[in-house]
Amino acid sequence: MEIKTVGVVGCGQMGGGIVEVIAKAGYPVITREINQELLDKGLAHIRKSMDKAVQRGKLSPEDRDAAWSRIYGTLDLADFAQADFVIEAIIERMDLKQAVFGDLSNICPPTTIFASNTSSLNLAEVAATSDRPDRFLGTHFFNPAPVMPLVEIVRALATSDKTLATGQAFVISLGKKPILAKDSPGFVVNRLLIPYLIDAIRVFEHGLASRDDIDKGMKLGAGHPMGPLELCDYIGLDTMLYVADVLYEELGDAWLKAPPLLRRMVAAGYLGRKSGRGFYDYNKS
Ligand code: CAA
Repeated sequence: MEIKTVGVVGCGQMGGGIVEVIAKAGYPVITREINQELLDKGLAHIRKSMDKAVQRGKLSPEDRDAAWSRIYGTLDLADFAQADFVIEAIIERMDLKQAVFGDLSNICPPTTIFASNTSSLNLAEVAATSDRPDRFLGTHFFNPAPVMPLVEIVRALATSDKTLATGQAFVISLGKKPILAKDSPGFVVNRLLIPYLIDAIRVFEHGLASRDDIDKGMKLGAGHPMGPLELCDYIGLDTMLYVADVLYEELGDAWLKAPPLLRRMVAAGYLGRKSGRGFYDYNKS
């Protein structure tokens, strides 16, 4: 199946990154936000990221301008009527995701493939309100989407072989590297990454080492580009808590239970980089 136009629902941290990747790969892309302020913010963020790529010599100014001209922002989901492939990248709430796919089912032609960028929700349940569970899959990008090469392609119970093959070919055409995962809690990467990160929070909470030494340890001792506490701040502590709760609820292993410190930091509004404070204080220059 030929994909000519792509839709991305949500233009936040993940949605905006995905829009940038798709536009740079040469596809016209429509993105929808729920109000003008969020749309303007999302588009400005994409522009800044593209400008940064130009400054770093990763993108020519001509290619940036061409990619930028392929992006169309809207507040109206009805504009997705021409999309051949739609990726939903809104917040991790089942009711909202289901509402989006219910609406899209009435807007898009039956041939349009639906994908969710969910990092942790049960994909079969997300797909349940759509009219096409066979043409529904997970495409899980990683943050920052323009830089991280991986996309997890997630197969829900009803996903057809053809949909899976189209999803894989599309992701490869974006310059990304797909891996295949079953619809299971955390798929592959979060199933392995989140337990490690919450354990690092426990090590810190129990005073076994300082914040800086925990991060330094994993960077210098294990070759990770970021230490675990720095990475928690980068992902967002609210997202961390959300995914940890899903893993604990679905798998039931006590080791997956979110540390009390994480829950309290989220309650206090310490969400990491996005709120200016998490394990690190980003308001200090
Ligand atoms: N466009 C294109 N390229 C860009 C770019 C942009 N906007 N911004 C940066 N880059 C490129 C840089 O040019 C550089 O490329 P080279 O190595 O070829 O020079 C590379 O990306 C790294 O950039 P920087 O040197 O500026 O930054 P860094 O070395 O500090 O790395 C990082 C930043 C890529 C974020 C790195 O720290 C990293 O990989 N951290 C771990 C991120 C991670 O684990 N993400 C997954 C989170 S989990 C998740 O997302 C799943 C979930 O569901 C929760």
